[in-house]
Amino acid sequence: LNKLADDPALAKSNDEETRARFERELDSFFSLFRRYLAEKSDDSSLVWDKIKSPNPDEVVPYSCFSEDAALDHSKNLDKLAVLKLNGGLGTSMGCVGPKSVIEVRDGNSFLDLSVRQIEYLNRKHDSDVPLLLMNSFNTDKDTEHLIKKYTANRIRIRSFNQSRYPRVFKDSLLPVPKKFDDPLDCWYPPGHGDLFESLHSSGELDALIAQGREILFVSNGDNLGATVDLKILNHMLETGAEYIMELTDKTRADVKGGTLINYDGKVRLLEVAQVPKQHVDEFKNIRKFKNFNTNNLWINLKAIKRLVEGGSLQMEIIPNSKTITRDGHDINVLQLETACGAAIRFFNGAHGVVVPRSRFLPVKTCSDLLLVKSDLFRLEHGALKLDPNRFGPNPLIKLGSHFKKVNNFNERVSHIPKILELDHLTITGNVFLGKNVTLKGTVIIVCSEGQRIDIPNGSDLENVVITGNLQI
Ligand code: UTP
Repeated sequence: LNKLADDPALAKSNDEETRARFERELDSFFSLFRRYLAEKSDDSSLVWDKIKSPNPDEVVPYSCFSEDAALDHSKNLDKLAVLKLNGGLGTSMGCVGPKSVIEVRDGNSFLDLSVRQIEYLNRKHDSDVPLLLMNSFNTDKDTEHLIKKYTANRIRIRSFNQSRYPRVFKDSLLPVPKKFDDPLDCWYPPGHGDLFESLHSSGELDALIAQGREILFVSNGDNLGATVDLKILNHMLETGAEYIMELTDKTRADVKGGTLINYDGKVRLLEVAQVPKQHVDEFKNIRKFKNFNTNNLWINLKAIKRLVEGGSLQMEIIPNSKTITRDGHDINVLQLETACGAAIRFFNGAHGVVVPRSRFLPVKTCSDLLLVKSDLFRLEHGALKLDPNRFGPNPLIKLGSHFKKVNNFNERVSHIPKILELDHLTITGNVFLGKNVTLKGTVIIVCSEGQRIDIPNGSDLENVVITGNLQI
């Protein structure tokens, strides 16, 4: 790996900054890689019997915050900056670019809606909360292009790139890239746990602190429910907590989400990957581990600086196996990642706040996309608000592989059906929905292989199962 830093192409590069950045990233990668090798040989996994439920002061309900906290404390916005995690691609939804540029509502992408949320916040409270975007080498160009149009708007958008680490071959553990400018698939962005290091090394952390900002509100780029909440901000300042994780109650659909535990007297995030096989069912039990991490995080900026400079943020390493293609052959590679939620245990006074489900609206699949595009939500200043006429939890939507890619989804569901009274929808196979379709109760549409089902314009489907071949 040292050879990468001695690459003549890099040495020839006139750009001092590129060189310094590359060397810094290699150093960080080295230390992560060394830690990975050390941890592999010394089994330091969690001792299951030491895991306890968090104490009452380690997980507090949002409902106990008073209304006054939201009304009287808009001045606190002077201390706030908002950051969207924007390093990920939309590959799982069949898109080549950043996930945040996928269109969600009325021609607006995730990124457009996040911008509108902050613009509205600043207009409403006459504040100047900056929006930061943490991009990766995979997403920065498209993102820069998209945010250009906001230059004249009343919003300060700052973006910085997270690290670029070399992938390693799974069998030999040797680095995939041979040169610093080798193709993109030789490298990877090392997970959102890289936020702390990259915020620091980009100079954005110091700049924010110099502006008097104290708290950073972090959330996933695809979570449109993660709006700035004045009650949580006030709670954070009042308690002096350095880190707050928003949790929400588990349903059967999200049994795999990371949960907060008390371990050796400290609060920690427990992810399913850390759970010994024989305890996985227990972990998934929604009565024992009641809530899970939304990845909406409120973090004290000076604490980040202290911990990064002290080299203390040693989050659990998540080895992620991938396959790349070389000369027509599939090759297994490994990338070592970290998650920012796992950093909770290093911060003082860190705790969880159990928030309403409406603050967690992730879009991981086109089934989620159908939900956020539908009449179930109204768009208000970039935020999605649940229609007050909706009863019960969000409908469970399962779309088959024909709907996996956004392009295919848009072809098949060119007009989003009305789903205000829907409980459950399953669609599999070669199915197309017409205009003005209403779905209620439980609707199951299963098209057999080689067949096609067209749901006619204006259909009103309630508690039905449709199978076979229907073309009208
Ligand atoms: P994740 O990849 O952790 O979660 O990204 P996910 O979106 O749930 O991924 P899948 O679908 O389970 O694989 C969460 C957020 O963190 C950003 C992504 O862009 C997303 O907004 N992210 C992820 C980064 O900014 N950098 C990374 O290296 C990884």
